[in-house]
Amino acid sequence: MRLIETERLTKVYQREGRWFPSANDAVPAVDRVSLHVEKGETLGLVGESGSGKSTFARLLLGLETATEGRLLFGGEDVTRWGFKRLRTIRSRMQMVFQNSYSSFDPLFTVERIVGEPLSNYGGMAARKRRRVILESLDMVGLGAAYAERYPHELSGGQLQRVNIARALVFQPELLICDEPFSSLDFKLRRQILTLLEELKIRLGLSYLYITHDLSSVSRFCDRVAVMYKGQIVETLPAARIAEEALHPYTRALLDAVPVQDPRLRRSKTGRPVGEPALPHGESVIQGCRFCSRCPAAMPVCTTVEPALERKRPFHHAACHLYANEAEGKASQTFQIVKE
Ligand SMILES: Nc1ncnc2c1ncn2[C@@H]1O[C@H](COP(=O)(O)OP(=O)(O)O)[C@@H](O)[C@H]1O
Ligand SMILES: [Mg+2]
Repeated sequence: MRLIETERLTKVYQREGRWFPSANDAVPAVDRVSLHVEKGETLGLVGESGSGKSTFARLLLGLETATEGRLLFGGEDVTRWGFKRLRTIRSRMQMVFQNSYSSFDPLFTVERIVGEPLSNYGGMAARKRRRVILESLDMVGLGAAYAERYPHELSGGQLQRVNIARALVFQPELLICDEPFSSLDFKLRRQILTLLEELKIRLGLSYLYITHDLSSVSRFCDRVAVMYKGQIVETLPAARIAEEALHPYTRALLDAVPVQDPRLRRSKTGRPVGEPALPHGESVIQGCRFCSRCPAAMPVCTTVEPALERKRPFHHAACHLYANEAEGKASQTFQIVKE
């Protein structure tokens, strides 16, 4: 069952500070994205900074209104629901924000921080409220004693656990984790991922796990979607990403993974492919957006935008290098030649 689904979801921002806005000032931060998260699934969303991942998350949560496309939650079209009406489903999906000490009010106890989302909804008796908070803390491995503590008394890993506890108070079905551990070291990151895996089994959660760090994806996610300049360029089972990724952009991301996780690296160059990405809206968009950076670009790539097509079972990519599955059986599939 699909918990959440988008159909060609689009968010266009108008660039600010222009006196006479023109069509060129329209920045498609999320561009015709069709994605879904199955119940019980962990979907990884990866891509460089600026590719539109956070905007996509905000669209799902109803914190931004879509310019075009549809958003379905539990099969119901909620695209045009207002902010208030979305409240009813927002408790069923929660966001785990990036961990940083500064995001907590230093004067609030852990109890107050974790209970804060409940206050916005009101109507819960003090005793029940405290019980819910302590249960949430317990689920993330923090005993009742932590309820009285202040942020400065906690370590980075503990603060991240508080963050997760805060997202759990509503017993959500979907947790959206947006770059949740960028500030944690490798070991702590593993601990938190293990915690999230336990919670998934215990509470039947689904995750949208957003990151620019590919090393955690193959271990933690079931499926991965790769985003480039607002578009999904590839989706495939996460465990197969290192061996089977087709899109040259995904390959470039894999090559840039730090040596820390050698399983994910095939080439040792570790440098990104081609020129740095142009900022959004800098180039006139025709053909493939990755074209100017692609080591395997062909003439067709400059004129025809590749559609996200099924290339193999459970594997979609938007790239002219590969014939789609049906055609692929007849013709030979191109291979990227690596130096
Ligand atoms: N509120 C906004 N107004 C205008 N442009 C925005 C806004 N938020 C994001 N953008 C632009 O949208 C693009 C995608 O940003 P974002 O979703 O934050 O990417 P990511 O999370 O992948 O780093 C960027 O080019 C960013 O500058
Ligand atoms: Mg972001």
